Amino acid sequence: MKYGHFDDERYEYVITNYNTPLPWINYFGQDGFFSLMSNTCGGYMFYKDAKLRRITRFRYNNVPRDYGGRYYYINDNGTIWNPGFLPVKTKLDSYKCRHGLGYTVFESEKNKLKCELLCFVPLKDLCEINQLTLTNLSNETKKITLHGVIEWCLWNAVDDQTNFQRNWNIGEVEIDDNTIYHKTEYRERRNHYSFFHTNIKHDGFDSDLDTFTGLYNSWCDPSAVMNKTSYNSKASGWSPIASHMFNIELKPNESKTIIFQTGYVENPDEEKFESMHVINKKRAYELQQKYNTKDQVLKAFTELKEKWMNLLSILNVKSDNDKFDRMVNIWNQYQCMVTFNMSRSASYYESGTGRGMGFRDSCQDLLGFLHLIPEKSRERIIDIASIQFEDGSTYHQYQPLTKRGNADIGGGFNDDPLWLIAAVSQYIKETGDYTILNDPTPFNNKEGSEKPLIDHLRASINYIITHKGPHGLPLIGRADWNDCLNLNCFSKTPGESFQTASNFESGKAESVFIAGMFVLYGKEFATILKNIGNEKEASNILKEVKDVEDATIKYGWDGNWFVRAYDAFSNKVGSHECEDGQIYVEPQGFCTMARIGESLGYGKKALDSVEKILTNDYGVEILHPCYKEYHIELGEVSSYPMGYKENGSVFCHNNPWIVIANTVIGNNERAFDVYKRNCPAYLEEVSEIHKTEPFVYSQTIAGRDAKNYGEAKNSWLTGTASWTMYAASQAILGIKPDYDGLMIDPHLPKEIKHASVTRVFRGITYHVNINNTSSGNYQMTINGKNIDGKIIPFNKENPEVTVVINL
Ligand code: BGC
Ligand code: NOJ
Repeated sequence: MKYGHFDDERYEYVITNYNTPLPWINYFGQDGFFSLMSNTCGGYMFYKDAKLRRITRFRYNNVPRDYGGRYYYINDNGTIWNPGFLPVKTKLDSYKCRHGLGYTVFESEKNKLKCELLCFVPLKDLCEINQLTLTNLSNETKKITLHGVIEWCLWNAVDDQTNFQRNWNIGEVEIDDNTIYHKTEYRERRNHYSFFHTNIKHDGFDSDLDTFTGLYNSWCDPSAVMNKTSYNSKASGWSPIASHMFNIELKPNESKTIIFQTGYVENPDEEKFESMHVINKKRAYELQQKYNTKDQVLKAFTELKEKWMNLLSILNVKSDNDKFDRMVNIWNQYQCMVTFNMSRSASYYESGTGRGMGFRDSCQDLLGFLHLIPEKSRERIIDIASIQFEDGSTYHQYQPLTKRGNADIGGGFNDDPLWLIAAVSQYIKETGDYTILNDPTPFNNKEGSEKPLIDHLRASINYIITHKGPHGLPLIGRADWNDCLNLNCFSKTPGESFQTASNFESGKAESVFIAGMFVLYGKEFATILKNIGNEKEASNILKEVKDVEDATIKYGWDGNWFVRAYDAFSNKVGSHECEDGQIYVEPQGFCTMARIGESLGYGKKALDSVEKILTNDYGVEILHPCYKEYHIELGEVSSYPMGYKENGSVFCHNNPWIVIANTVIGNNERAFDVYKRNCPAYLEEVSEIHKTEPFVYSQTIAGRDAKNYGEAKNSWLTGTASWTMYAASQAILGIKPDYDGLMIDPHLPKEIKHASVTRVFRGITYHVNINNTSSGNYQMTINGKNIDGKIIPFNKENPEVTVVINL
């Protein structure tokens, strides 16, 4: 069942049934002011950091689930409704929620009154614009009241939900004719405030939540709205909100537009106040003036759309498969932007209060983002590398506001260091810019500890070389990519975090997955070293790579697939010898990508096993059989009920590894088959089962052993986005940035007979036409001339190159 449809021309997903199986959300913002927007107008806003600088409040775990947002109440002769359906839940005569790239539009109608609400964050400013237009479609004059309301968060989102004994005393606001300013803690140490502004003078306001709703009412039936009034309440403590009320009269066919703006302002310390306790509003006024007319809003909205048109013109495909094109051209790239911005911090599943920017996560997010904005990628790489320690190990995350690493969600994940090489090598391939290697980059953000970035890569490699276990395989540390494979955790205490506890540091548990990574990225680092003339160092590293490769062949092969790990007692994990968890997907993907045991047919066998044992209707499950019991020696992986999360769901992030690995062994049909299985556009028709947004990837889809087989969770913030972008563009379409130029090495399935790709690479626009007759032969032709090899010779003089590939 579908709840809407794709509108590819407008780059939108149009939700036409508000009863979606879960909130279907969208993101706004690019450089500091970010918002989440659900299909019922729910969500929240923050500046840079969803934990430390939350602007509006959101109540997680609520009933109903999606509560808190920007709510517009229309009281039309006693019928009270919202353009986004919630919170009043009045049945609408028509409803559309158009989620677009960085904006959402609601188009709703009730009793011949039409409401159009356009919401977005402009490119250049720290604010969210909500432009609301009401049109009277009836033959009679309508007299209505409109309330526009948001609820402030007292900045630190964790403290806001916990420290009530203090917080219910500190809320402060200032109010004028059309703006409500939220200035809690501004008198003391904060230099920032926010505001909710309207472009016309309101007819009443409220800024105290309990007064607005009435103590025993809720967002569904706020007293002010029910009574078509405002109490002009001035919040002092408790929960400050901002509500503007308007009495509106509309003649038949008349329209009225009001622009609401939620803004964020920082003042230099010496300019904080206008007078004693009165905030200096100069910057706020400037911001307000920029979006006070429909023309100004239209201009900013057009700029946003143009920005996306330009971004999406960098990589674009037209093939004979609509769904593939739609994902590659629009939604997958859009999701890559969002994961780049958010890492794993703020979604409807990630509260934004737990995790900041992940070392591993953000490195991987770059793989699908780099082509969009290389300059931002470069900056991000340096931020991430700056939380590395001198020995090559790393903090696992940093808060975006402070950019300082912290161990709140654990540390000592031994895969982390290698992801930095993945990101940097891909950056160089995309841009040809080796100068990044010289960028002075601190360790643990300590001033004075700066070393060229290349020394960070050396530290990464060295960390693995110096941390090996009894089989010569890399030690796993707290865990590797699979955060739930906690082989040194041995937790017995209820509630103890698997991510931070280590009750038995065996110094022995090893990871075959990290071995695969080391071989893949070790070779990559060696290539970089060769390219900058460090031949000797490169060959030393290749020797180390060879050692790990040999150890993997010897101890990491189980007969039909790669072993997953060795536990603290050197027992195998992910082997036919185990009762449960006999095969895990991760090393099958990575070791095949790294071509370990290629001449022995390992990759082929491993991927056959993946197809036979792990593949279900919705993709490839992470392991099989699921753990039935808790295994203290394995940790969190065995804590999940069967078929969920790391215990046997389709953990979508590693599916593209299987896609890529299949193209490495030349199995193009299977690569595309895996691609399609968990691709949201292909699951749109079964949205009632899949449940999450049909336009973005989710982290996990419940596996065959789960009660809710096929149900996805944790949409949006997943490494699936960037890896799938990489798999689709670089493995399936085969448009591969390489050190010396653009390589074209497609692995199209038979069902795609033709693909025309436009790719802007290092300033040159390549038009690549791929004809797939599945002949098994490859021929590249440039301007009618046959060319040997698969790399397009780089020629700066030619800004446009047309290439034909016959397969
Ligand atoms: C989840 C993992 C996640 C980890 C780190 C675990 O509970 O299952 O997917 O990576 O927490 O926060
Ligand atoms: C989600 C985390 O964000 C990611 O870092 C991890 O690799 C996967 N879970 C697998 O555990």
